[in-house]
Order: sequence, then C-alpha cells, then structure tokens
Amino acid sequence: MTDEPLLEALQGGEWCSGAEVARRIGVSRTAVWKKIEMLRERGYSIEATAGRGYRLLGGPDRLLPGEIRRHVSARRFGAEIVHREEVDSTNRLAGELAREGAAEGTVVVAESQTAGRGRLGRTWTSPSHLNLYLSIVLRPAVAPADVTSLSLVAALAVAEAVLASTGLRSGIKWPNDVLLGERKVCGILTEMDAEADRVRFLILGIGVNLNATTRDFPPELRRKASSLRIAARRRIDRAAFAGNLLDQLELFYDRFVGGGFPAVQEAYDAYHCLPGRRVRVDGGGNPRGVVRGVAPDGALLVETSDGVVRVSAGEVSLHGSYRS
Ligand code: BTN
Repeated sequence: MTDEPLLEALQGGEWCSGAEVARRIGVSRTAVWKKIEMLRERGYSIEATAGRGYRLLGGPDRLLPGEIRRHVSARRFGAEIVHREEVDSTNRLAGELAREGAAEGTVVVAESQTAGRGRLGRTWTSPSHLNLYLSIVLRPAVAPADVTSLSLVAALAVAEAVLASTGLRSGIKWPNDVLLGERKVCGILTEMDAEADRVRFLILGIGVNLNATTRDFPPELRRKASSLRIAARRRIDRAAFAGNLLDQLELFYDRFVGGGFPAVQEAYDAYHCLPGRRVRVDGGGNPRGVVRGVAPDGALLVETSDGVVRVSAGEVSLHGSYRS
C-alpha cells in the first residue's frame, strides 16, 4: 500500500493498458493520463504507446512496496508494506496500525519523517529520499521483561544486512547502535504495548543512514554519524537493502522467539565491539569499567573496581582508548 497507487500499478516495468491502470487505481482513463503527466514532472520516465498503454522506465529512487518486495524472501516480514512519502514517525504510524489489528510483520516505510523518534526522547534526523526509516509490527509470545534483548537481535540483523549489501563489517555498540569506523550508521527504537505479563505488540523502528553524505547531517552529528554510502564510497540500493534487512530480521527474530537471546548470542557477539573497552554507562548505577561481554539475557557485563556488574539498560560512552 502506498500513497502512490499509480506507481504501484506500474511497478515491474511491464506494459499496462490505460484501462487496466484505471481499473486498478479506481479512476477514469483521463485521470490516469493527468497523473502520468504529474509523475513525469516529478522525474519519472514513463513510456506511453497507443496500443500498449504505459510502461515505467525509471524514476527517482523510491522505497515503493513493489520494489522492496522484489528483494524479500521472508514469508511474513514485509508481506504487507505501507509506504509514505512523508510521515511524522513510522513508529507512530505502525503503532496506530497495530492497534487497529495489523498482522505481525506489517512494515511501514517512509521517504522522510518530520518527527523521527530516537532513544531517550531524542529526535532522529530523517532527510528525504536518502536513508531507510522502517518500522515493523511484532507480536512475540514472550514476557515483557524479555523484550529488551529483542533490540539487540535487530542490531544483529542490520549488521548482517550491511555486510550483505556493502561487504563491510560493522560493529554493534551495545545495546543496538550499529557503527562503521566508530561512527553510528543505524539507530533502533523499540516501543512496546503490554499488559503486566503479556506483550500486546511491539514496534521495532530502525533508521539506517544509507545514502546521506556528510553535509546531509546537522553539524553537531558530522563527527559522530556516517552512512553506508560514505563508508562504501558508492550509492546504496535502498530497496535492496530494505528487502535484505527484512530477510535477516525474520531469520533472527524466529530464532529469538524459539530460544531466547542465547539462540542468537554467538552471532551478536561476533559483531559486538565493546568487549575489552573501557566505558562509562549512564544508567544502572552509572558504572565505569571494562566491558567483559553480554550475559545470556542480553545485559551488558562491566568489570568495575567493585567486581562485575550487570547493566540492563543505559547509554554507553567510550572512555579513553584503553583496551584490555
Ligand atoms: C536511536 O536514537 O538510536 C534510535 C533511532 C530510531 C530511528 C528510527 S527511524 C524509523 C523509526 N521511526 C522513528 O520515529 N524512529 C525509528
């Protein structure tokens, strides 16, 4: 589903007669012609021939459902994709759809967000047509307490998708930041609707900087953030990345639901870049010390002067360049 039904009808690049297009999008043939003209003005190349109808030859880079689906093998994740040119927050819209009964695996993608939500009440910079802003509805049969480690699983899926699409090995900074060369390229925000002992639904929101260049970031982020394009030195096919990410997400999510965090821990640990690093944590008693890894429930283990402490939630800052 998209706010561009005409583009959806022409996805795939096959000829489609004017009558068929009109039928699919529920308007008259004259209205189809007017919409075709408007799309051409927006940069789409559409061939029109009297006997055959219309054929989409190309256009500006869009995350249209048909484009993403061409790259998805997963069965449930992405079976329903809602696309918006602009939205306040894909997490907000996905939450609305979940409350109305959207099935697990329903995806919301947008070309831009006007109020992208970040962790700890921050905003997520969401320039248009450059990156991926994706939220997915999940209905896991796990206790609310086990949900925290699900965002670690999402970071693992992103790291695998980065590897598949660029050949670059990213690092995961616990709990779920994905870094390339110590700069953040992905943020994950999990929002939950739950009763005391039952998760009604979760919205897993993933923002990946794909084609942003340095000047697309606000000045205060330029030293901290990067994109796949900057690191790989080439444009990234956003729809292919999104499709691959949905495949990886479904794979690791199913393992997590079946066996908890231990079922994916080895894969997570292979990307985790904090072990051996001296850190300061904001949260969980603000410990300082050297990271010793992640516990089987997803908590961070930090060796302090008072022994090893567990941190279940918090923001980690790297402290000096000490490694041990
Ligand atoms: C973070 O602060 O690191 C988390 C950022 C999460 C951003 C993504 S973009 C798609 C989804 N929609 C939102 O409003 N936020 C998440």
